[in-house]
Amino acid sequence: MRLDKFMSETGRASRKEAALAVRKGLITVNGATVKKADVHIDPDNDEIVFMGERIVYKKYTYIIMNKPCGYVSVTESKTDVPALALLPENLQKIGLFPAGRLDKNTSGLLLLTNDGESAHRLTSPKHHVEKEYAFTVKFPLSKDDAAILESGVELDDGYRTMPCRVILTGEKEGHIILREGKYHQIKRMMQAVHNSITSLSRIRYASLTLDGIGVGEWRYLTEAEEKEITDHR
Ligand code: URA
Repeated sequence: MRLDKFMSETGRASRKEAALAVRKGLITVNGATVKKADVHIDPDNDEIVFMGERIVYKKYTYIIMNKPCGYVSVTESKTDVPALALLPENLQKIGLFPAGRLDKNTSGLLLLTNDGESAHRLTSPKHHVEKEYAFTVKFPLSKDDAAILESGVELDDGYRTMPCRVILTGEKEGHIILREGKYHQIKRMMQAVHNSITSLSRIRYASLTLDGIGVGEWRYLTEAEEKEITDHR
C-alpha cells in the first residue's frame, strides 16, 4: 500500500498532508526517514512512525460521536448536514457510516464505522442491543404512564412495542432503555400515553457511553470498546 494512502486510511492525514509531512521529514519507515509519499509499505509488518507516534494499520475504524441536534445521521443529504461533516476531511473519505439512526432533532451517541458486519449485527432487530436515552416531555409523566410504557404500547401504525425500562428522574424527565429501534419510536411511544417529547438524547449504545465527549465532539473507540462491539468475530 502507498504510504499516503496508509496515512489517510488510518485517519492521520489527508494524502496532501502526508506529502507535506514527508517533505518535512516527519515520517519514518522502519527507522529511515521517507523521501517520497508514494513509497510502498507493508501495513502489517513495516513500522511507520509519524511525529514520534507509531501508526498501526487497522482494517476498520470505529468512532463515537456526540451528535448535536440539527445534523442528520445519513451519510449524504441534499437538504441537511450529515453528522460525518463534523469529522476531519480525511475521515470523511474512508467509508464511515452511522451504525443506527438518530433523528435530526435528537442529540447524543452515534457510532460511526466502516465495519459493515459489526454495524449490521448491532442494528439488527434480532440482536436486541440496548440503547439508553435521556428525555424530557411536555406534561408530567406519572409512574403509571412509565409502567404502561415499560410493558409495551401500541404505536400509531398498530405495532406493539417490546417491554422496556423507564427511569423517572423528575416530573417531566427520565431515561428510557430500549432493545429495539422503530422509526421515531420514543416520540411515538410518548404520544401513545398522550404526552410529547421536548428533548431526546442517546446516552448509551450497548456498553458505549458518552462520558467526557461534549456535544459535537468525537473520539476513536478504545481497544477494549472495539473488542466489545466486534465480539462476534
Ligand atoms: N426514538 C426517537 O423517537 N428518535 C430517535 O432519534 C431515537 C429514538
